[in-house]
Amino acid sequence: MWRFPQGFLWGTATSATQVEGQVANEWTEFVGPDGGHCRRACDHYHRYREDIELMQRLGVNAYRLSIEWSRLQSEPGGRLDPIELRRYCDKLDCLRAAGITPMVVLHHFSNPLWIYRTGGWTNPATVTAFEDFVTQIVPALRTRVRLWNTFNEPDTYASCSYLLGEFPPFYKLRVKAFHTVINNMAVAHQRACEIIRRVGSDAGPVEVGFTKNWTFFNTLRPNRPWDWLLARISDRLFNHWVMDAFTRVDRNAAATFQGLNYYGQVRFHNGRSLSPARGRSREELARLGVHCDDMFERYPAGLGIALSDLHRRQGLPIYITEHGSACSDEAFRVADLRANLRAIHGAIQQGVDVRGFFYWSLLDNFEWQFGYTKKFGLHAVDFADPQLPRRAKPIAEIFRVACEENRVP
Ligand code: BGC
Repeated sequence: MWRFPQGFLWGTATSATQVEGQVANEWTEFVGPDGGHCRRACDHYHRYREDIELMQRLGVNAYRLSIEWSRLQSEPGGRLDPIELRRYCDKLDCLRAAGITPMVVLHHFSNPLWIYRTGGWTNPATVTAFEDFVTQIVPALRTRVRLWNTFNEPDTYASCSYLLGEFPPFYKLRVKAFHTVINNMAVAHQRACEIIRRVGSDAGPVEVGFTKNWTFFNTLRPNRPWDWLLARISDRLFNHWVMDAFTRVDRNAAATFQGLNYYGQVRFHNGRSLSPARGRSREELARLGVHCDDMFERYPAGLGIALSDLHRRQGLPIYITEHGSACSDEAFRVADLRANLRAIHGAIQQGVDVRGFFYWSLLDNFEWQFGYTKKFGLHAVDFADPQLPRRAKPIAEIFRVACEENRVP
């Protein structure tokens, strides 16, 4: 049995574009391979009260959500839309009334169209525009929010948008643009941290940090120079460039925690990456000894390594702001959850200050370039039914026990 520290946050997570519906950003017109789009998504925009009841049933004491910038600010320097702001305030009030601490993400992969159309994060003016947004939203929510997550996975955002051609604007191999985006986001992160710490919160001590997706890149077989090179380049671009930009001495001083999203590893074989997210089937990969969900190879031991490395590197408390798996095999998902919780528990035992764990995700939802084909939910959503009914999956029960007992039996 693995017992977790007192006060540990057990949460679940979503992002606005993936669940809310009725967003007007660069994803609105996108249609996935299954014909799915984010225009209705889970209709969480209208159903957040119902979804908070699901969270209560899970017994979580925390929830990570993103605030959709495009909903609140319709033009550069514009005042925040009072109706939309009131809606977010109501959602936060409902959470707090349910005993659920919110962690608010300021940027989770989506931008207002007026930002997107002027070059997005390649344009330095976006840094100033974001700062203006933060200067307005943080005081507006200061009575309700004390946990802030500035950027979700700048690594994924910049690589999918400018290297891999998977997110709008779907560019490939634009290394310079990738670099510019990371640097601009890192500056914006630092400024946001400073604003948040200056403004403070009535809800308790303010904590702020950005979230790094940590993915391990390796080769399937030893002594394969080409695969080794691909793994090295991926690791440098995706992990080290990003960490270096965001955690330069002066910038690191602005944050109070490090967020970590962890899913697993990507291995290379004969010049190709071995992951279902890059078009390989789970069955084909299993024959090579690569065990995946519908996205990536699982590597729970890596979570322990990532936690220890981040702890050594930065000495900040860590929140695991996302971990989860997508597939229809619930036994696989339960085993994956247990193995990852075990790795977290092991890291805590060795002195890593891990403060919380947020399961990705509360609901099956719009999974970006994949439409609705990847199902990460603790709850299934029947997208064919106009009522979008939610149903708890078996893994939700396992997670509920961990949340309620603060331990994993
Ligand atoms: C992102 C989520 C996404 C999840 C599963 C993370 O990279 O933050 O938005 O749904 O992974 O792919």
